[in-house]
Amino acid sequence: MPSIQWKDNYLFLLNQTLLPNQVQYIECHDYRIVAEAIKRLEVRGAPAIGVAAAFGIVLGAREFSNSQYFWTSLLKVAEELGQTRPTAVNLFWAIERMMAVASRYDQNSEIVDVVSALEQEAVAIADEDVAINSKIAHYGAELFTTPVSVLTHCNAGALATAGVGTALGVIRQAFDDGNITKVFADETRPLLQGARLTAWELVQDHIPVTLITDNMAGWVMKKNMVQAVIVGADRITLNGDVANKIGTYSVAVLAKEHNIPFYVAAPVSTFDFTMESGFDIPIEERDASEVAHFAGMRTAPEGVDVFNPAFDVTPNSLVTGIITEYGVLRGPYREAITELQQKIKGV
Ligand code: MRU
Repeated sequence: MPSIQWKDNYLFLLNQTLLPNQVQYIECHDYRIVAEAIKRLEVRGAPAIGVAAAFGIVLGAREFSNSQYFWTSLLKVAEELGQTRPTAVNLFWAIERMMAVASRYDQNSEIVDVVSALEQEAVAIADEDVAINSKIAHYGAELFTTPVSVLTHCNAGALATAGVGTALGVIRQAFDDGNITKVFADETRPLLQGARLTAWELVQDHIPVTLITDNMAGWVMKKNMVQAVIVGADRITLNGDVANKIGTYSVAVLAKEHNIPFYVAAPVSTFDFTMESGFDIPIEERDASEVAHFAGMRTAPEGVDVFNPAFDVTPNSLVTGIITEYGVLRGPYREAITELQQKIKGV
C-alpha cells in the first residue's frame, strides 16, 4: 500500500493519522492540502514529507501557470511548504532541488515547460527514494549475520518513505535473509507512530513484532531480549549527531548502557552538510493537547504546563553506525561524513 502516489496529475496521500483503523487516501489537487497534510502528520517521516512537498510544488506551479505572477507565486508556494515542519531536512532538500530546476528557466520561458520539468523532477525524487531505500536495506542487512531480535522507535518504514523504508527496509531485508527473529516496536508517545504504523506494517508483512510502551525498552534490554537497535533520522549534522523522533536519545543511552549496537538508517538527503552539530537543529514543538490527551480524552488536569518536543538529538558518541545508500558510516563521523560528501560530489 503506497504512502504517496502521483496519479492523473493529483497527489494521493495515505492518511496516516487514521491508521491502523482506516485506510483512506487524501486526494490533493491543491498544494495547500499538501501543506496541511504535512503539518497534521497525515503524511510524515522525513523522506515522505520531502516527496510530498516536491509534488506540492508541482501542484502550485500548475495552479499559477496562467498567472502573470507565476514566478512570485511559485516562490510563495515553496515558502509555504517550507514552513510546515522545521526538523526533517529532507523537506528543505526536496524544495531546494525543485526550485533549482525552476531556476533553469526565466521570464521568457514557456511556463508549460517549467511545470513539466518540475513534474519530472518530483517523479524522479520519488523514484530515487525507492531505489535508495533498497540500497540502504541491502547495506544494513549485511550487518546482521546471525538471527537477532531488534528494537526500533517511531516509524521509519514504507509509510515514512516512497519505498520499503529506511530502518524498516533494513529489518525487512535482514528478515528475508533469516537474520531477524523478532522486532520490538516502541509505541512512541505521544502520537504512537510505533504502535499505529510500525506494528501495522510489520503485521502486514508477517514479520514477528512485539509492541512495548516506551518505558519498557530498558527492561527489554536488561533481560537480553534485544541485540540491536535500528532507527531512522530526520536530520544528521556534519559531526554525526542525529535528530529523530522524541525518545530516540533515551533508547540510545539505554543501548550504550547494555552494550547493544545502535544503528541509524538514513538517505543522504537526511544529512545537513551545512550544520556543524546537532546543537543547532531546530526542534519542532507541537501542541500541548498531544501530551495532555490520550485517544481524544484528557488525561492531565486543565491548566497543567506541557512540554512537547517532537524530536530529540542523539549525540554521535552513542551511534554505532549510520547506514546510507553509499554504505555504512562509522565514527569518527566528521571524517566519514566529509568523505561521503566528496563521494556524492564525485571527487
Ligand atoms: O513526526 P514524524 O512521525 O514525522 O517523525 C518521524 C521520525 O522521527 C522518523 O523516525 C524519521 O522521519 C525517519 S523516517 C524514514
